Amino acid sequence: MWPFPKIIAHRGGGTLAPENTLAAMRCGLEHGFRAVEFDVMLSADGVPVLMHDPVFGRTIAGSGSVAESTAQQLTALDAGSWFDSRFAGEPVPTFHQVIDYCNTHRIWMNVEIKPAPGYAAETGRAAAALLKQSMGGHRTPLFSSFSKEALLAAREVAPEIPRGFLIGYVPDDLESVMRELDAVALHTNHKHLTREQALAVKQQGYGLFCYTVNEPERARELLSWGVDAFCTDRIDLIGPDFS
Ligand code: G3P
Ligand code: MG
Repeated sequence: MWPFPKIIAHRGGGTLAPENTLAAMRCGLEHGFRAVEFDVMLSADGVPVLMHDPVFGRTIAGSGSVAESTAQQLTALDAGSWFDSRFAGEPVPTFHQVIDYCNTHRIWMNVEIKPAPGYAAETGRAAAALLKQSMGGHRTPLFSSFSKEALLAAREVAPEIPRGFLIGYVPDDLESVMRELDAVALHTNHKHLTREQALAVKQQGYGLFCYTVNEPERARELLSWGVDAFCTDRIDLIGPDFS
């Protein structure tokens, strides 16, 4: 039922490196992780890049937005200084670069499609088109998104790439949502998840993925409930072989 890895490094290197950068991917790998989650957003000229926030100000200094910046502009930005001066100048990577890195190092990808507001379908389509063409010979990746529109657009372009639906709470109408999206897994906030809900999701035959689990004790509890996988920021505390 769950052909994917169980413990996944969140945003590349969790709390140990600037999120959604190649430095983060390297950091995850240094900690033994061959499974990673990261966020993909579309530039103004339609290039998928790794980014969590649609507007600058947190990981990118200054003001501006991803949807209004070209890929050339975005990849020239410093996505490392906010985290630590050691990472000053670490660029915003394109999705293409990260796929290459992961494929080269045999790192499995949970690609979260994170569209800027108003760009859900475009982002889903572009991410799917790119991932589709680089899948040969590699472990099947998994898309996830809070945006149904993005997931459906990805499905149109690459129905063979499985999809997980991201939602903070287990929805009451789980079955119909999962059917609508043709999704294989539910990705949900572990903070709101109960044992009964976990059992129900599993009983209905879906994969169950939790974000973002940073305490070993809680991680063990979730796994004992039948949770299939989770991502973690604490790759220093919770290793890739955690059980
Ligand atoms: O994909 C799991 C998790 O990353 C979802 O939330 O905001 O950290 O992207 P966020
Ligand atoms: Mg994410």
